[in-house]
Amino acid sequence: MCGIVGHTGRRDIIAALVEGLEKLEYRGYDSAGIALAESGGLKTVRSVGRISRLREKLAGIVTDARCGIGHTRWATHGKPTEVNCHPHLSFGRRFAVVHNGIIENCRELRALCEDRGISPVSDTDSELIAHLLEFNYEGDPLRAVRKTADMLTGSFAVAALLADFPDEIYALRRTSPLLIGVGRGYTCLASDGCALEADCVYSLGDGQYARLTPSGAEFYSRGRRVSPRKIPPFDAAHCVRGGYEHFMLKEICEQPEAAARTVEALSGRRLRGRLLMIGCGSSYHAALSALPLAERATGKAACATTAGEFLCSEKTDGRGRTAVLISQSGETADTVAAAEEAARRGYSALAVANVPRSSLTRVCRRSVLTHAGPEISVATTKGFTSQAAALSAMLAPPPLAEEVRRLPFAIERALNCDGDASAAARLLKADKAAFFIGRKSDLGTALEGALKLREITYIPAFGLSAGELKHGSIALIEEGTPVVLVHTDPQLKDKSLLTAATVRARGGRVIAVTPDDEVAAAADLALRIPAVHPLLSPAVAVVPLQLLAYRAAVALGRDVDKPRNLAKSVTVE
Ligand code: G6P
Repeated sequence: MCGIVGHTGRRDIIAALVEGLEKLEYRGYDSAGIALAESGGLKTVRSVGRISRLREKLAGIVTDARCGIGHTRWATHGKPTEVNCHPHLSFGRRFAVVHNGIIENCRELRALCEDRGISPVSDTDSELIAHLLEFNYEGDPLRAVRKTADMLTGSFAVAALLADFPDEIYALRRTSPLLIGVGRGYTCLASDGCALEADCVYSLGDGQYARLTPSGAEFYSRGRRVSPRKIPPFDAAHCVRGGYEHFMLKEICEQPEAAARTVEALSGRRLRGRLLMIGCGSSYHAALSALPLAERATGKAACATTAGEFLCSEKTDGRGRTAVLISQSGETADTVAAAEEAARRGYSALAVANVPRSSLTRVCRRSVLTHAGPEISVATTKGFTSQAAALSAMLAPPPLAEEVRRLPFAIERALNCDGDASAAARLLKADKAAFFIGRKSDLGTALEGALKLREITYIPAFGLSAGELKHGSIALIEEGTPVVLVHTDPQLKDKSLLTAATVRARGGRVIAVTPDDEVAAAADLALRIPAVHPLLSPAVAVVPLQLLAYRAAVALGRDVDKPRNLAKSVTVE
């Protein structure tokens, strides 16, 4: 989703801002822009589309600015047009503002601007912040920042330039993350550690605001100076592709280590009692794939649902139950809201997140971390496997503990099916439907495989229970329709063999993801995976599905790491 960068004290200000924005590209965006604090006033350059287009617009621009802010926008309020692009200028061109998050009282604020004779030029809620800053400015920038923050409801991370102080940046945040870095002779900020290069990195606390100058940053809360909270520097190795063609492939290959770190960190943690597991997208699939294991481990009926559905479900009594909120980023708005709602309904809320000190870990009473490391590709891979590994580690009964520890090795062996995945990818056609089916623990895996394919190839891919295929969806199966059958549970072998035969009888091409010889033989093509306990299989069985989607996307020439319309974390409900 939207990303923020800012630098002060840089001679190469345009390059510093654009390079920062490029590091945020992975989050998903549809337009980008920068603002520069020049001696003659504030200047903005904005463009729709990729950062490369912004670069072209900036080529040849000479500036005396040493300070600026930049933004990648993922449209919510208003279409991705240049007018809606950040940075936004205030009516008197005194302030330039970039903003992440959603201002909930934007209608009231728009009316307030109009009452004072200012007609906002864009459809965004963000532009209103710039006007408020200028309304509230009487010579003291920090006072204006504080007054403005008090007028906003909702979530925001904001960076602002003020023409009167051209080497300063003002930052404020509530809920949405913002980090500040101090380097030698310059100070910078970013919404994501990935875009920060600095000797010391601080997190701007919730509700705090700050002034950045080339020599450092001052942090404030409610009018008082506060000491900043230092955080460990970001591991830049995660932000470079190394020798890989795409971040997605790099992250697929990092899965054995990610799972090993996660299993190691969580061994000894136990999930007990009646569980409700909640997530969005792939995190929901991780929840679904762990459901049978949760029921085996606790001996009680468990439930998995999406955060969006939980939010609109009946307000039943959750006392005595645990809600497990799963999120790679820890910033997905639906999941964060679901955590708050779960607490209101009496559940004990536990976060399973990959990003420490995220919004989700803050709102949940307890939290555990997956240890996938930063994930850059929009389509999650190691994020999902480390969630599956985390749930396996916390749920597996003692006799399966050793199998859990061996999961990373099985994941590593599953990577060997890359060649077969390329062959399977050739069975997929850009405009023809594909099916992903499985039962029990394989259902969540199948849904995740279908999502991966949809996300990065745009092929219409359906994930469903293998038992459901015959209830309607089979109508779409014709000569050549690819059906990916995930089969890991020996007890379900007869059912899987029957499903494969039913599909092939109608001309469908079965691609089996399985450790089982017979099921493999019953398919047109098999992606062989090592045998692990079926209840622990999702972290392993998903690997060929990721490779299948990846190889198909590359073959179709898709923008693998930055699929259209998608954002890495969706921070709006
Ligand atoms: C977005 C991403 C998905 C992801 C989902 C949940 O929709 O595009 O890939 O699975 O958010 O993200 P989270 O960070 O909460 O796991």
